Amino acid sequence: DETPLRVSVIGTGYLGATHAAAVAEMGFTVIGVDHDPAKIAALERGEVPFHEPGLPELIRTHVQTGRLSFTTDLAAAVAASDVHFICVGTPQQASSHAADLSFVEGATRAVAEALTHDGLIVGKSTVPVGTAARLREMVDAAAPAHLHVELDWNPEFLREGYAVEDTLRPDRVVIGGASPWAEEQLRRLYGPAIAAGAPVVTCDLPTAELVKVSANAFLATKISFINAIAEMCEKTGADVTTLADAIGYDARIGRRFLNAGLGFGGGCLPKDIRALTHRASELGALQVAGLMQQVDEINMSQRQRVVELAMEACPVNILNARVAVLGAAFKPDTDDVRDSPALNVAAALHLRGALVSVYDPEASATARRSFPTLSYAATLEAAVTGADLVLVLTEWPEIVGADPVTLGRLVAHRAVVDGRRCLPAAAWRDAGWRVRTLGSAASETAVVPAGVRVAA
Ligand code: UDX
Repeated sequence: DETPLRVSVIGTGYLGATHAAAVAEMGFTVIGVDHDPAKIAALERGEVPFHEPGLPELIRTHVQTGRLSFTTDLAAAVAASDVHFICVGTPQQASSHAADLSFVEGATRAVAEALTHDGLIVGKSTVPVGTAARLREMVDAAAPAHLHVELDWNPEFLREGYAVEDTLRPDRVVIGGASPWAEEQLRRLYGPAIAAGAPVVTCDLPTAELVKVSANAFLATKISFINAIAEMCEKTGADVTTLADAIGYDARIGRRFLNAGLGFGGGCLPKDIRALTHRASELGALQVAGLMQQVDEINMSQRQRVVELAMEACPVNILNARVAVLGAAFKPDTDDVRDSPALNVAAALHLRGALVSVYDPEASATARRSFPTLSYAATLEAAVTGADLVLVLTEWPEIVGADPVTLGRLVAHRAVVDGRRCLPAAAWRDAGWRVRTLGSAASETAVVPAGVRVAA
């Protein structure tokens, strides 16, 4: 059957907007659906409410080719489509840390009830294992009885900042629970990616759900592992960066996600390992729950360690000390500050009475919305001017590449804490800075006020 597939994408947040644009790019007709009319109007103009390289352009291109449109009318979109992707959020519940499934359930039910012809509902949201099977029962009950309707799971692995690239050229395509009929449609849909070499993994529903959760849990574990080892290095004078290089040459280990520092944040890893902890406990898989809890605890303690390091490194009393915080986003190349380690540290120092000035090349506006009591500088130079202490908390190229000589003339004291192990420490020391690096033993040089010549 070569009739072109028509696709609806329910939820036009990060995942949905990117997926809709990518499916249009792969040659199909796509309707993006969201209940928020302002969001839909903005997307129609090619405006994306987050910083994602290439996405606004891709959306504009396909709004123009006519392959991509947006609506708030879910029933109309479903009536005009054959494959329906569920891309709504699964936020963390404040009380239990379990995933809040109300949006996924609501969207799936709404699609099932709106079906006017045979259709395939495909979940992409990250959900606790067991959810898809329940949704399948719900769809069977809610969809018109005379129609052939199927619900499958097809998790998404995109990284923020690389969302377009990751969606168009995925490492793998995981198709869970599909009948031959459904698998055929999804293989057509991902045809370009599969032709470019992406392996297809077909499996049952629980495997597909767990693949996604385990991938993120493994990445989180890698980061917390290297941060645990960094503590050993800090105590013994060993160098964790060299160590990561050396163990990373073992192909079974691999170098990526072994950068020690402030740890992971963002909208996925912290939420996903907490949801896994919760689900594992429910299932009585206590060792998984314990392991994930440790990963989370190690990660959160990194933030505390940077706060302590900052207090130690601050050449004046922290009360009323001027502290420049460089970086607010949870990682470079994004304006996302969800669960941002950098902002957590900034807020903790603010609570201790420091006068904190935050600079981020892209994330100041989103940071201000979440942490309105901190002050924000328009430039890196403005943030460090008069500072007693500089903290580097997100490794943006502009921050990593900043000139320590120039900055040294602007600050009150040349003291810097590198929470991401990203600065060229020797160049900073040569410029008269006292550098403290998370995961490295303290060096012996004393802090001198700026303006005082450093003896050779
Ligand atoms: C992550 C997964 O990578 C992606 O596959 C999944 O679909 C969603 O979650 P993302 O949240 O965009 O993507 O960020 P990622 O690039 O994975 O970084 C996560 C966090 O880990 C960042 O805070 C980053 O600073 C931190 N990190 C990463 C480290 O601390 N050390 C590392 O070595 C790598």
